[in-house]
Amino acid sequence: MSAVIIDGKAISVAVRKEWKERADRLKAKNILPGLAVIIVGDNPASKLYVSNKIKACHEVGLHSEVHDLPEDISEKMLLKLIDQLNEEKKINGILVQLPLPKHIDENRILETIKMDKDVDGFHLYNVGALMTGNTVFPPCTPFGVMRMLEYSKVPIAGQNAVIVGRSNIVGKPMAMLLLQKDATVTICTSKTKDLIQHTKQADILVVATGRPEMIKAEHVKQGAIVVDVGINRLDDGRLVGDVAFEEVSKVASQITPVPGGVGPMTITMLVANTVMAAERHSGNLP
Ligand code: GUN
Repeated sequence: MSAVIIDGKAISVAVRKEWKERADRLKAKNILPGLAVIIVGDNPASKLYVSNKIKACHEVGLHSEVHDLPEDISEKMLLKLIDQLNEEKKINGILVQLPLPKHIDENRILETIKMDKDVDGFHLYNVGALMTGNTVFPPCTPFGVMRMLEYSKVPIAGQNAVIVGRSNIVGKPMAMLLLQKDATVTICTSKTKDLIQHTKQADILVVATGRPEMIKAEHVKQGAIVVDVGINRLDDGRLVGDVAFEEVSKVASQITPVPGGVGPMTITMLVANTVMAAERHSGNLP
């Protein structure tokens, strides 16, 4: 039997509609949510992500601006721009696209963004808030995965959730959000001994390793829910995830495709966090 596809594009259209309604309620009060995106250098993947983020803001009718900076910009200049955006009234959310060039201290940059404008949820305060369950801004990709699971009526409490990949952007916050919903959570890393032994236990398997098609049918329990966060361009030009889609969809009960799975949801949740920031800044809580 073939798995049901969790259609991130379609779910994203529905979820964006909810957030457009919330943005429209603010706009009716003359409050226009605004996002500033900072991109440094010419990384083509980052450029594409940023242009999709801006497109989504336009679609929902938010103010957005891109600060496109040269690769050799100094850390000092970047910090100065963040300070300005921190004070700018029409900006509710600030996102610095990662990765940054090596000469810039990423942590220092992320800690400079005002906590209440940190729509990526990467500031140490927001990371800590997530850990305690008092989440302020859930990081967009794990937030998007949770929304997809909810939309697809996947039960979470009591389920074995296994995450492959322990990044700060996906793996660790994903674990916290699943734990918050009472899943039994395991995080695997590239050093995990006998990976299959862990992944085979998963009712919900989330993969974010950046290694093309590394999760095969043999890693997956019959009937599991498989979420593929990876997106990799192969030498032949094909875009694939971290999961070998064809073979795994014969074993899983539900699976996210690449592209068209988690990607659109990540962008939708950035819109959500920006609208949430504007609601908080203006005192218009839903
Ligand atoms: N680079 C890859 N994913 C992300 C993300 O979610 N946010 C930012 N700022 N940079 C990224």
